[in-house]
Amino acid sequence: MNMPVLGFGTFRLQDELAYQSTLSALKLGYRHIDTAQIYGNEEQVGQAIADSQINHNEIFVTTKVWNDNLTQLKLLDSVKQSLSKLQLDAVDLLLVHWPAAPAGVEMEEYLNAMLEAKKAGLTREIGLSNFTVSQIKQAAETISMDDIFTNQVEVHPYLQNNTLGEFCDNAGLHITAYMPFAYGKVLKDEVIQSIAHSHQATPAQVVLAWLRQKNMTTIPSSTNEQNMQANMQSLWLTLNEAEIQAIAKLDCGDRQATPDFSPQWDE
Ligand SMILES: NC(=O)c1ccc[n+]([C@@H]2O[C@H](COP(=O)([O-])OP(=O)(O)OC[C@H]3O[C@@H](n4cnc5c(N)ncnc54)[C@H](OP(=O)(O)O)[C@@H]3O)[C@@H](O)[C@H]2O)c1
Repeated sequence: MNMPVLGFGTFRLQDELAYQSTLSALKLGYRHIDTAQIYGNEEQVGQAIADSQINHNEIFVTTKVWNDNLTQLKLLDSVKQSLSKLQLDAVDLLLVHWPAAPAGVEMEEYLNAMLEAKKAGLTREIGLSNFTVSQIKQAAETISMDDIFTNQVEVHPYLQNNTLGEFCDNAGLHITAYMPFAYGKVLKDEVIQSIAHSHQATPAQVVLAWLRQKNMTTIPSSTNEQNMQANMQSLWLTLNEAEIQAIAKLDCGDRQATPDFSPQWDE
């Protein structure tokens, strides 16, 4: 199936909360779930998918290979373990979580292992996450741009990632925007609140509509059914050009996800 433009993120959701939130999201109509090996919730996500009684073919599931598993030796086995936890034969999308393989492992090694996972039918698509322009170029020389389904990166009004965005647009590489609310920070912004007010919408809906109108997929997370439902309704909100321009001016490079193994980010 195609990747729905609005998905459901599961970072930080653990145990019963991961299960209940994913189940609620599915019941409310979400058909795109984003998890990762490192989130430690693939089992709960898988159980929620099974218990939702929705046909697996109707749900787009993404998981991400953690840094330690980015080797020829470990990658495929780690994906098989993910699939077993998720109770799935294959995921729709398998991402390299970070360009941060163990020391001495070249990109070529783990990207070829990602392709092998696809050829073995463990995933329908493969992609990248947290890759910079130069790393995407290197990846496209190693495998090919056509093999790369998306680059999942942090994008929200305070970190618009325009250099990367322009490169991906020109290269025909789709961007999936993670942490669309900067974990809640941008929802307090006065400009966003005022745009929301004029549409009788919520700040979260404004941010999600803005990302959709930038042709990005996004994956907000929520543990609250009202928020999940309101976020879905952003699909019916359209911002005008002046509003889009006003949000463009909020960019201030305020990055949230900066672990010590981060790449040298694009300016
Ligand atoms: N590839 C990567 O390296 C990477 C890194 C980070 C994140 N991600 C993915 O991106 C997803 C989203 O990022 P995130 O979870 O870190 O942060 P986020 O989606 O930006 O923010 C989540 C926060 O927003 C709140 N929220 C959600 N909807 C709301 C609404 N309508 N009104 C008010 N508050 C609302 C949630 O609270 P409630 O629970 O109360 O609703 C939660 O505290 C992750 O879950 C993960 O799947 C990927």
